[in-house]
Amino acid sequence: MKKRILALALAAVMALSLVACGNTSNNNGSTNNNGASDTDDGGSTGAQKVGIAMPTQSLERWNRDGSYLDEQFKSAGYETILTYSDNDTNRQVSDIQNMIADGVDLLVIAAIDGEALNTVMNEAGEAGIPVIAYDRLIMNDNASYYVSFDNYTVGTLQGQYVVDTLDLDNAAGPFNIEFTAGDPADNNAGYFFQGAIDVLQPYIDSGKLNVVSGQTDFDTVATAAWDTQTAMERAQNVLASYYADGTQVDVWLCSNDSTALGVAQAIESDYAGSNQPIITGQDGDEANLKNLVDGKQSMTVYKAVANEAVVTLDLGKAILSGEDVNESLITASGWDFECAYDTTSYFTSDGNNCPSFLLVPDVVTTENMVEKLVDTGYYTQDADGYLHPAA
Ligand code: BGC
Repeated sequence: MKKRILALALAAVMALSLVACGNTSNNNGSTNNNGASDTDDGGSTGAQKVGIAMPTQSLERWNRDGSYLDEQFKSAGYETILTYSDNDTNRQVSDIQNMIADGVDLLVIAAIDGEALNTVMNEAGEAGIPVIAYDRLIMNDNASYYVSFDNYTVGTLQGQYVVDTLDLDNAAGPFNIEFTAGDPADNNAGYFFQGAIDVLQPYIDSGKLNVVSGQTDFDTVATAAWDTQTAMERAQNVLASYYADGTQVDVWLCSNDSTALGVAQAIESDYAGSNQPIITGQDGDEANLKNLVDGKQSMTVYKAVANEAVVTLDLGKAILSGEDVNESLITASGWDFECAYDTTSYFTSDGNNCPSFLLVPDVVTTENMVEKLVDTGYYTQDADGYLHPAA
């Protein structure tokens, strides 16, 4: 319960700091080379220092993660350096190098490209700095631990939502479906897509689901940088090439909210049909929750990133105090949310397992959004029924 209250208090702090972000010049998604996009260490207090490297402020969730992590570690007495690298891998490398030069004791990194941090990870290793791969796996053995949600399950929840909503086991069909996946540089993207495909493939094989474009290969349906505009443009192309004659699209399986936003825009502007296709998503971004209310998106897989930050803090504390970290962290921490210790799912490029703490994602629709998001204190609901991050 204490942890839940802390998470909710952090939600409030984060909302305030997001407002503050809009008014400062150094929080616009680019950091200077001193890692000073949001640096607060209150001078040298002798406290241990934690470097937090987030990918970008242009995708909504990372603003939440950065703020939660920063506040968590600060309130626990650590100094912090927080950087956003504008989705630019070279910049993230130099941001992390600056943190190492600054003498951080721990790195928490959500990688832009899980394969591209090798050199800087080796530098962290040589400097004896432990690294927590945050949300996205870093494919290098110097990543000591991985904290994320069960990424494969995110995809299965999206796939199962389609199966249930269309009642695929009983309905005659066939139904037309298209796919939009995430960024190939993000190790998570393949897991999300695979989870969804594994649920839907039997229906594709039996002919109940028909991929009119024929595009089911991950690389073909992927979206560089998870970019909304890129997702919109590919959807427009698919609509122009395969649906301009009035063919109905029943489902557009999108791996996350930023891509779902682009697909929903394409459906609004370029779709000849009159039905509203099922569109899936992930994250519970504000614009997508609005689309849920407006009937332009069907579901989102919500991941309580405040809890992801709680796990990261407790893991970071244990590492920094030299404890031997394993499954016992979960019982010792007394979290009031589910988290599994996993040593069989995530492997670096060298084939070694990265011990992982995996939280549990949840389906949100208009039916349960108040219960899941408002009653829990993460969002408030305005008179028109739209949700906004709690302030
Ligand atoms: C995260 C998703 C997010 C995506 C784009 C992934 O690594 O797990 O929650 O939607 O990146 O930001």
